[in-house]
Amino acid sequence: MSFLPLARPTIGDAELEGQARALRSGRLVLGPENEAFEAELCRITGAAHAVAVSSGTAALVAALRALELPPGSEVLVPAFTFPAPAHAVVSLGLDVVPVDVAPDTWNLDATSVARAIGPRTRGVIVVDQFGVPVDVVALGLPSEVRVVEDAACALGAELGGIASGRAGALGCLSFHPRKIVTTGEGGAVLTDDAALAAQVRAIRHHGQSAPGEFVLAGLNLRLGEAAAAVGRAQLARLPELLEHRALLAAAYVAALAAAGLAERAPVQAAPPGARRAWQTFALLLPEKPTRAEVIDRLRAHGIEAGPATYALHRIGSFAKRPRFDAATLPVADRLHDRSLALPLFFGMTESDVTRVVAELAAVLA
Ligand SMILES: Cc1ncc(COP(=O)(O)O)c(C=O)c1O
Repeated sequence: MSFLPLARPTIGDAELEGQARALRSGRLVLGPENEAFEAELCRITGAAHAVAVSSGTAALVAALRALELPPGSEVLVPAFTFPAPAHAVVSLGLDVVPVDVAPDTWNLDATSVARAIGPRTRGVIVVDQFGVPVDVVALGLPSEVRVVEDAACALGAELGGIASGRAGALGCLSFHPRKIVTTGEGGAVLTDDAALAAQVRAIRHHGQSAPGEFVLAGLNLRLGEAAAAVGRAQLARLPELLEHRALLAAAYVAALAAAGLAERAPVQAAPPGARRAWQTFALLLPEKPTRAEVIDRLRAHGIEAGPATYALHRIGSFAKRPRFDAATLPVADRLHDRSLALPLFFGMTESDVTRVVAELAAVLA
């Protein structure tokens, strides 16, 4: 039986041809491939500006830095997330405040946000966890709190007619191989604000607003032309990629229900009216057997599974810091131990889904 990995990128002839075209052109950075890739991201999301960068993490650093939050500012971050947003805050010398997530959507919880806001709160990074768009309006944030939306996993998702990545002042995308579309490494910042877009462009390009005009102490966060060309080919098939993932997710939901697992192993939910991007298919395991036992059993049957992601207070970069405390972050703490991601990738079949659910049902029986 074939091995089913958690994820697998979809690279075809168009991506290979795009890369060759870019390399043969002799223009390897900041050229027509980047421009066309950015224009296509604007068309897809409706954003006025898109700035391609070297990774999703680079997008977060550039977006947050463009806001020029005063020293000593606190930035709220969901306590259950891949740590890149929290690490971006630390890299700018700002203070991370972890906030618990909702038990159904695994996105920021409005009550916990209200409790975490203090006199130094100036920003929040909201995360569209695994492609589930966060309801930013429902968070009821005060106007002085600037919002960066981490839509790393959510290209193609939307809520209330607003594309993921457009719910805050700036939005960040990732094109890592586990994301909806990939450029190898890559990312982008979306914004409707021309001044913020210009800041991000300068931060990306050694602080230059034009060749030789160094307006700030920037970095090199550029995306290469070959990677942008791959991204263009990926975006051309975005509807197909999203549709296939949604089909597989629906098959998972139906198979879990048929196996009597809908309540014992609930799937991460989306807010009403959301179109989610299904970057990851994840559920919450019951307390017994342990997740390690489930993962081992699936692996023995040729199926890769793993923790969906991490609780910040449980990883080395933040453990034991004040405010990073299991007692105040109970949902993130539980998800850290019991969330499970299952295989989901373009080219996987509905019978693969049936096989995964059958093994899962057997180990949970
Ligand atoms: C929610 C989230 N934000 C940011 C990142 C960082 O993206 P990248 O790996 O492209 O730097 C990831 C990556 O896994 C992520 O899941």
